[in-house]
Amino acid sequence: MNLKDIDIVSIRDLDRSQIDHILDLAEKMIPFATGERMTRCLEGKVLANLFFEPSTRTKLSFESAAARLGIRVLEVSSATTTSMSKGETLSDTIRTVESYSDIIVLRHPHEGSSRLAAHFSSKPVINAGDGAGQHPTQTLLDLFTIRSEKGGIEGMKVVMVGDLKYGRTAHSLAVALSMFGAELTFVAPETLQMPTDTVDQVSEVGHAPRLTSDLESVISEADVLYVTRIQRERFPDPEEYNKVAGTYRIDKTLLREARKDLIVLHPLPRVDEIAPEVDYTDHAKYFRQAFNGVPMRMAILMALLGGELD
Ligand code: NCD
Repeated sequence: MNLKDIDIVSIRDLDRSQIDHILDLAEKMIPFATGERMTRCLEGKVLANLFFEPSTRTKLSFESAAARLGIRVLEVSSATTTSMSKGETLSDTIRTVESYSDIIVLRHPHEGSSRLAAHFSSKPVINAGDGAGQHPTQTLLDLFTIRSEKGGIEGMKVVMVGDLKYGRTAHSLAVALSMFGAELTFVAPETLQMPTDTVDQVSEVGHAPRLTSDLESVISEADVLYVTRIQRERFPDPEEYNKVAGTYRIDKTLLREARKDLIVLHPLPRVDEIAPEVDYTDHAKYFRQAFNGVPMRMAILMALLGGELD
């Protein structure tokens, strides 16, 4: 399968067979991601890692993935250190950066920014989060984690909880899970429920999702609990944030109602939505999920840059 030079802006840029291909490739990357095996198969390539919003996992796992493949990284970690602070447009920045690199990873506070960048760049653009829009590479690593922990995705009962309105990881993942025939339940306070267009897409592609604000009533049947942070920085009014902060907290008491083999995922960072006591239970898979960002992003770079293992 040839995915060379494609952009990954939305998870819908990939079809089911392309996603399966990337998941299989990520599996092969694990020994390289841990350092057990070595390769320089993309030596000479240059990746531009442009982060105009804070990031720990996405930025560093792209850097780690690049390092494990022999790729050099150019990095920007704030708009204030670039000419965008002088008033340069994103399109001019991208037209410049594409001439310095072979592939661009972009995180930006505005929805639609990666689509715009892809329009102006002849090199592949990977959306690493565009405001409250999409986060497709997080979705690929989330799918990879579910597949490796549960043995498959089809028919899984997945409960997604938290800020489904502003949470870009939730938007991309919901659509992808419906492509795999998972059964989805969206748990959120009414003001933070999944946007209607995403609910509609999920219903079009797969099973119609269930919407509720009551986590306790649905926890016992879940195979996967996907917890998200309330996206404080996206609230136009801090008062609105205060009203919903702390609505859900996953702790051992709640998990007593859960299946023994329930896995708890979170894209991280967490604030207080998962109690630290959960970390020491067999349910907790979020740090493994964070590790999976490395083999997954290695797979993505291999696919888009046309790398072959030597
Ligand atoms: C998420 C993001 O940036 O959207 N983090 C991540 O990439 N792992 C989730 C969040 O910030 O809550």
